[in-house]
Amino acid sequence: MPKHVFIKTFGCQMNERDSEIIEQLLAQTGYITVSNQEDADLVILNTCSIRAKAEQKVFSLLGLLRKQKEKQPGLHIAVAGCVAQQEGQQIFKRMPHVDIVVGTQQIYQLPDMLFRLKSGETKREISCDLEKTFTIPPFQKLLANHNTTPPSPALSDYRKFVTIMQGCNNFCSYCVVPATRGREISRPVDDILEEVIMLVDKGIKEITLLGQNVNSYGCTNTVADQKTSFAGLLKMVARIPGVERLRFTSSNPQDLSEELMGCFKDFTNICPHFHLPAQSGSNAVLKRMQRKYTRELYLEKVNQLQSFCPEIAISTDMIVGFPGETDQDFQQTMDLLETVRFHGSFSFKYSDRPNTRSADFDDKVDEQVKGERLQCFQKRQDQISLERNRKFLGKTVEVMVENVVEDAVQARTGTNHIVHFTSSTRFIPGDTVQVTIIHAGKHSLNAEKITA
Ligand code: SAH
Ligand code: SF4
Ligand code: F3S
Repeated sequence: MPKHVFIKTFGCQMNERDSEIIEQLLAQTGYITVSNQEDADLVILNTCSIRAKAEQKVFSLLGLLRKQKEKQPGLHIAVAGCVAQQEGQQIFKRMPHVDIVVGTQQIYQLPDMLFRLKSGETKREISCDLEKTFTIPPFQKLLANHNTTPPSPALSDYRKFVTIMQGCNNFCSYCVVPATRGREISRPVDDILEEVIMLVDKGIKEITLLGQNVNSYGCTNTVADQKTSFAGLLKMVARIPGVERLRFTSSNPQDLSEELMGCFKDFTNICPHFHLPAQSGSNAVLKRMQRKYTRELYLEKVNQLQSFCPEIAISTDMIVGFPGETDQDFQQTMDLLETVRFHGSFSFKYSDRPNTRSADFDDKVDEQVKGERLQCFQKRQDQISLERNRKFLGKTVEVMVENVVEDAVQARTGTNHIVHFTSSTRFIPGDTVQVTIIHAGKHSLNAEKITA
């Protein structure tokens, strides 16, 4: 009898990539992935702890799973990811029906943990150590862990994430990631290059290099003690034949080098989109956030980026209502939005997180004020996105197809804009098409196809 696993992924691309690895590891031990929780013998929640709401979602879902387990006693429930790492044993105490807790760096243990559980060797399994060395296995082992057959929940089979580093050493005062993902460790260059070559050999056209702070790649605790910078690595990946589109995330403004900016000018396959999280426009807030740049430095980097690559789209992450944020501080954030005119942004209300420095700050901003500020920011961002998107009207752009449902095609520009069009030609994900933009909304564009 085949066994069935349902994996639900919360949070960032790191988790999406980890879920893919988990799916492949389990496929090797005879599990089939199902898209319906009720059909599963094993439910895995790959969790996120970045804001309180993300964590609450996990616990309410675990509450619902208790009912499923009452009806289906053989069901196994596993909690992976950042909430697992953060809470460890506590999860069993709060949710006794959970069978497995596996931390962010121990996912490779899952098949063994399941085996022990099923053979009755143990009643519960937990593995949450954070390692001091890189936990992504060398390339040869990873080969088996790259599923290039769709469907994957996050990505179809023409684009893939490649992890280049794990953890984070920045310790921004509000952030759980250094605690949930451990110290920053860069992955050896050769491993990364081999993985990319393997992926393009299998037909992958778009690669996204992943790390919490890719700009400090190679600077800290590198396995092979190499001295390749992120810009150096990016150039090597960009030169691999078959890499049609290359992206990366996330970047910290303070480490953004001119060498990296120059890559946008020198390589046509590096997509003209830069996600550059600002978090706040106020120097006082940035300081308390322990971000290592000022708004002036941020603006200087934006100007430099635009001069290297005039068509570049810049997006950001913003937190409103950080402890102590005054109306004037918030106005500085609005002012940064007006000055940069971000193409898009992810904005959040500040949320207290366990074991972070800002959780102990006593000048918390009122929930209602946070809500008003968020609404104000998002409303203006939407207007700006729309104004920027309207600049595309009448222009011909190259897009890569993401999704096709009958004659409706969803595609993406290099600048990361989503484009919809209809076509009687049968496209498949990964095809490149020239289209003319005929309508602009705040979140997407509509187009007419010109050529395939
Ligand atoms: N490494 C990335 C960010 C990863 S977390 C970087 O430094 O840019 C993704 C986003 O979640 C952050 O950019 C931040 O905007 C938001 N975030 C993190 N902790 C938060 C908190 N405690 N409250 C609200 N938003 C938070
Ligand atoms: Fe968190 Fe800051 Fe690291 Fe980003 S750089 S993951 S916000 S600590
Ligand atoms: Fe969430 Fe962990 Fe990513 S906290 S944002 S899943 S690193």
